[in-house]
Amino acid sequence: MNTEELFKKIVSHAKEYGFIFPSSELYDGLGAVYDYGPNGVELKNNIKQYWWRAMTQMHENIVGVDSAIFMHPKIWKASGHVDAFNDPLIDNKDSKKRYRADVLIEDHIAKIEEKINKEVVKAKKRFGDNFNEEQFLATSERVKGYQKQIEEIHQRFASLMNANDLAGLKALIEELEIVCPISGTRNWTDVRQFNLMFATKMGSVSDDSDTIYLRPETAQGIFVNYLNVQKTGRMKIPFGIAQIGKAFRNEIVARQFVFRMREFEQMEMEFFCRPGTEMEWFNYWKEERLNWHLALGIPKEKYRYHDHEKLAHYANAATDIEFEFPFGFKELEGIHSRTDFDLKRHQEFSGKKIQYFDSEINESYTPYCVETSIGLDRTFLAVFSHAFKEEVLEDGQTRTVLNLPKQLAPYKVSVLPLVNKDGLPEMAKGIFNDLKFSMRSHYEEKDTIGKRYRRQDAIGTPYCITVDNDSVKDNSVTIRLRDSMQQERVSVDNIRSFITQH
Ligand code: GAP
Repeated sequence: MNTEELFKKIVSHAKEYGFIFPSSELYDGLGAVYDYGPNGVELKNNIKQYWWRAMTQMHENIVGVDSAIFMHPKIWKASGHVDAFNDPLIDNKDSKKRYRADVLIEDHIAKIEEKINKEVVKAKKRFGDNFNEEQFLATSERVKGYQKQIEEIHQRFASLMNANDLAGLKALIEELEIVCPISGTRNWTDVRQFNLMFATKMGSVSDDSDTIYLRPETAQGIFVNYLNVQKTGRMKIPFGIAQIGKAFRNEIVARQFVFRMREFEQMEMEFFCRPGTEMEWFNYWKEERLNWHLALGIPKEKYRYHDHEKLAHYANAATDIEFEFPFGFKELEGIHSRTDFDLKRHQEFSGKKIQYFDSEINESYTPYCVETSIGLDRTFLAVFSHAFKEEVLEDGQTRTVLNLPKQLAPYKVSVLPLVNKDGLPEMAKGIFNDLKFSMRSHYEEKDTIGKRYRRQDAIGTPYCITVDNDSVKDNSVTIRLRDSMQQERVSVDNIRSFITQH
């Protein structure tokens, strides 16, 4: 199965098992907007909780807020989003399709990288056990040629982006002979800037003064509450403010399922520190955040850092944590050293003083800030796509299983009476009613036990508890483990301790 087929299967599995539905499907959908179904909302809430606890409960100097989506329009002027939150777009005149110019170039680079990977695979076959990948990459003339191409494109691309040189970007697209994937032609328009914010009107009078924006990041809700939180919480620097909430961007290229959406959720934390210490905290949060991902039990090879060449208008250092999605390594989380840019700008635009008096050094200053910003929907996709497996069993049948991290699974247990008579449903209901107070539990009577196991595998339930005829006699049940499919007999009194230990 190639990666495209695998991705299609993941998307249809998400729909079939009630994780994610296209929004407004009854009306043929709405581009890049999605709804979470009954299993999806459980998984999503568990991810939120895992992040929230890790950031707030586990750090005594981080507190939370939940700010409004609508904010004063001046905020987006101050933050730079009105003037600089743009993507360079280009249209193909034949297909009438619109693309991001930077994405076309990045995709072109990815194709050259793919050629290097193919050379590696070929050489591996040729040299067998004696193959040394590092040496091959350093010495193969063909690979070196590809690497040189990538480096040259990268350098030009970065300087054009940094200089906002739109004509230069178009020239590079033409020079690289990039064609439209739909029409196959190189008949391109000029590159133009496109602001990604959604605008709407507040109140009943429609003039420019009441234009407000749907927030494109949750971070600004934190910055404008900095003084409130610092004062009311008597927070001492360094300290952080965390927030989970919706963000909206009018993405030009909206594809790859919940990877790039027009309405999505972010989990952001702004960590305020003394000026001059920001690089120390930047490195701390880089490591801390990667460890958070690894604690889910997903292998390290699936993640990598990617340092930014083009820094956002507010940053003096930035890195992404990239994840290997079915369509390749892509940004999952961004860590930015945002300097004192945001607080200083809000001080300037609001006319209110935003300063911190540091009693340790007897000085007042505008705090510097390190941000960790992760997309909730992207995290969902990372976890979900990594967990999706089609296994061929010993009897030749295939089973689809979601090996989700146990703490994130929509249901921790499913309680299943073997048959729908002889007092088994009553006993199973009793167990369910007892467990539901301490864990998200599921109960089901319908269908054969085999079919019910398969359904629980497909939604990632780690434990199935089966109540059979012996259960009513000896007060024991069978617990089936999702990943190994092994079954163990356990006394009803020991169900909780068994689950904690396995
Ligand atoms: N406050 C900084 C900020 O918003 P960003 O890199 O633009 O930085 C942070 O966004 C994270 O939000 C990304 O790493 C990604 O996980 C998520 N994200 C951004 N745009 C998204 C979109 N259109 N759909 C889904 N997630 C998105």
